[in-house]
Formats: sequence, structure tokens, C-alpha cells
Amino acid sequence: MPSITSLLDQAATACAKARKGIALTGAGISVESGIPPFRGKGGLWEKIDPMKYAHIDALERDPAEVWKVLFLGIGELLGTAAPNDGHKELRRLEELGVLQTIITQNVDGLHQKAGSRDVIEFHGTHAVLRCMTCQRRYEWQEITITEIPPRCPCNGYLRPDVVMFGELIDMSLLQRSQMLASQCDLMFVVGTSATVEPAAYLPVIAKRAGAFIIEINPEPTPLTHHISDVTLLGPAGEVLTQLTERVARLRPMPQG
Ligand code: OAD
Repeated sequence: MPSITSLLDQAATACAKARKGIALTGAGISVESGIPPFRGKGGLWEKIDPMKYAHIDALERDPAEVWKVLFLGIGELLGTAAPNDGHKELRRLEELGVLQTIITQNVDGLHQKAGSRDVIEFHGTHAVLRCMTCQRRYEWQEITITEIPPRCPCNGYLRPDVVMFGELIDMSLLQRSQMLASQCDLMFVVGTSATVEPAAYLPVIAKRAGAFIIEINPEPTPLTHHISDVTLLGPAGEVLTQLTERVARLRPMPQG
């Protein structure tokens, strides 16, 4: 098996050549910010049954219960979270001209807080509440929650503007993501178990189109031996810091 040093070198060389790099990120990149992932040890779905609380049918049946069990807890967790080295290093890769766009399955807004400029929120955002009746949107911060579920002036219930199980991905975001995947020459796949469609298929599209795939995750995933060209096993913050240092030596910051 190649050493981590030689894998980092291979990945850095691919980054130095990239002209149209993108990243697909998942819950794992925010673990070092104190946000638990969904699957695996300590994951949210160990404590909460997603079919009972994270499915659109559950929200429509009993919105108060879904707010109490899921939305309020996530809101509290995300409210205080700050970007970690993983988010910051992806931002640095953007500054170095390696990355153009991040497609994230996360709803925590941490890539934007780290300064990344083009972020596709594939599964929506928890920072925005949407009325289930009139569809009007509000920044979570504008709303004082005095009842559960909170209500819109139209009297409809508000919900976070996230994609729940059983709901479709916004068509324009899906189409743009698929287009970027089919046109990129490099794709990072960071901190995702790559088990939830249609996001999990984006690396397959990129690979078929000839892109070099760099996966970063402490554990192997279904992509590891089939789709990824290089898998860097480890926490995103640590691995990306080592990788970016190498890339910066090979590809100094663009001037002007
Ligand atoms: P998962 O919880 O399925 O996977 C998290 C991944 O992060 C796992 O592969 C971990 O090994 C990895 N991981 C853990 N710590 C890490 C670290 N420090 N650095 C890097 N990786 C680490 O999360 P997602 O793949 O994002 O969707 O899940 C996809 C979707 O499933 C979510 O967006 C959500 C969920 O159900 C919906 O709610 C619709």
C-alpha cells in the first residue's frame, strides 16, 4: 500500500494541474467543528430514527414533534459552530485557483463562514425558515420563536429550508451540480459516506467524465476502491492542511 506521503504528493500534483476543480462535502467535514455526523458511531441517526423524524411525512403529520426532536437541537448545535481547518483549507484551495465550487450536503453554512464564494447547498440550509403554506422565507435570526412550531404571518407553520427524506432536490441546484460534475477535471469528496442519492452519484459522473477524484475520510466508503483515484484516510482538517501546504509550493497564489 502506498504511504500517506506518496498519496499526498499524488493528490497535490493533481491539484497543481487542475483548472476546473470542485468539491463535494458531507457531514464529516464539520465533525471537527463539534457537529456530529449522521451515520456511524456517535451519529445523529443512532439517537433519532430518520424515518420517524427526518421524513417529510413525519413533518406533515406532526410538525411540533419534529421541531422538538430534530430542528431545535440542530438549530442550537449550528448556532454556535465555527468553521474548522477543513473548511478553511478548502477556501485556501479556492484562493490558489484549484477549486471553483463546493457542493455541500451540509446545512450548517460553515463553508460560507470560512469565506468560500461559490457554495451549492444541495440539501438546503438550516439558517432559513420557510412557510409550509405560503412558502415565504425568513432568516432564522429574524424570527423569535414563541411557539412550536413557529408560525408565518399567514398562520402557516415554518420549517427549516432543508431537504428532508422523501423530498426532491431543487431542480436548478441538481442540474448545476450535475453539469459541474460532468465538466470538472478534479473532484474532492470530503467527509461523506457517499450513501445518499443523488449526491452520491456526483463523483461517478465526474469520474466518467475523466476527472481525478481525491477522497478524504477517516474511513473507506463505497467510492474508495472504485471511483476515487487517491483516498487520504484521516480527519479532513488535518489531511487538508497537509495537502494545501504541498499544493501552495507547487502552485503559488495567483497574482493581482
Ligand atoms: P454521513 O454521516 O453519512 O457520513 C459522514 C462521513 O464523514 C463518514 O463517512 C465518516 O467516516 C466521515 N467523517 C467522520 N469524521 C470525519 C472527519 N473528521 N473528517 C472527514 N470525514 C469524517 O454524512 P453525509 O454523507 O453528509 O441528508 O450524509 C449525507 C446525507 O445523509 C446528509 O446530508 C443528510 C443525511 O441523512 C438529509 O438529511 C437529506
